[in-house]
Amino acid sequence: MYQFESLEIPIVGAPMAGGVSTAALTAAVSEAGGFGFYGGAYLSPDALATAVREIAALTGEPFGVNLFVPELVDVDPAEFAAYRKRLSPLAEQIGVDLPESVPFTDDSFDAKVQVLLEQRPAVVSFTFGLPSRDVVDRFHAAGVAVSATVTCVSEARLALELGVDSLCAQGFSAGGHRATFAIDDADPEVETLELVRAVVAATGLPTVGAGGVAGRDDVRAILGAGAVAAQVGTLLLRTPEAGTRQAHRDALADPQFTTTVTTRAYSGRLARGLENDFIRANTDYAPSAYPQVNTLTGGIRKAASDDPHVINLWSGPGFRAAQAIPAGDVVRSLAPR
Ligand SMILES: Cc1cc2nc3c(=O)[nH]c(=O)nc-3n(C[C@H](O)[C@H](O)[C@H](O)COP(=O)(O)O)c2cc1C
Repeated sequence: MYQFESLEIPIVGAPMAGGVSTAALTAAVSEAGGFGFYGGAYLSPDALATAVREIAALTGEPFGVNLFVPELVDVDPAEFAAYRKRLSPLAEQIGVDLPESVPFTDDSFDAKVQVLLEQRPAVVSFTFGLPSRDVVDRFHAAGVAVSATVTCVSEARLALELGVDSLCAQGFSAGGHRATFAIDDADPEVETLELVRAVVAATGLPTVGAGGVAGRDDVRAILGAGAVAAQVGTLLLRTPEAGTRQAHRDALADPQFTTTVTTRAYSGRLARGLENDFIRANTDYAPSAYPQVNTLTGGIRKAASDDPHVINLWSGPGFRAAQAIPAGDVVRSLAPR
């Protein structure tokens, strides 16, 4: 079973679902001596199978795939309607019809598990909660290592009890969605170094530290806290291999964007991104309902895909250090020694 301790360069390329992850990015990180992850959320099972085959054709090195664990969440119809109404002027302005209601979907979780059991990447990681013990056992029987993303010690203990092989400790600075197990849990807001130390002490599991890496010194600090590797997302966003939209790439280098914040405004789940007009206008009003709010805002984000004040600009605070250079160069530049 795969172990992160065997990495030539202790850098994990974050899974980044929603278009940023590409087969080329995942393969480039693994080829450079790091460990590339592919974000399998939002894709159909067939598209996921195709992507995994593509990665395997690009590299003989080990790589991983990440899935979001579904949590059945009811949306309060009145809260949903109020948020829909709030977004209506923007939707009208850009010519988008907002859906009256949005059904819960589980992102075809079981079918994607089946795809990954057949394709057998080296590691499958889970975010937004834990899979069932049966799923973990089936991956182990297939020779696939299982990892869980955690944001606090209590989540890490649950993952240990379940029998996962490693953890990804996601600190509060991490770009993208917060990995908290339950949508309504208050964010523990524990920063990466403190979280890595606490999780390693509590579980003894091999732990990858994620969140806020802007350069080699941050990697050294994460390893110094007891992690086996550091996971980077933001630093890969401007690489040519990433599928990042042009407006997102440009915003990361644009002096008008100065800070990152967490918000439920785009998806209903907390996520960290560059603060823009959409976040400023809507953060205080977004219901906590995922994936319903994500689906509600989807049409707006698609239609305004070149407007950085409308689309989600997921990022951690290391965005100023994100360079438009090949992913392999990013990985090598972060090698701690
Ligand atoms: C655009 C973007 C998309 C992300 N998508 C996922 C995802 O699909 N699954 C996941 O586990 N983490 C996802 N993350 C979080 C990363 O795994 C990681 O925790 C984070 O990028 C680390 O912080 P950093 O961005 O400061 O490097 C995403 C992050 C970004 C920036």
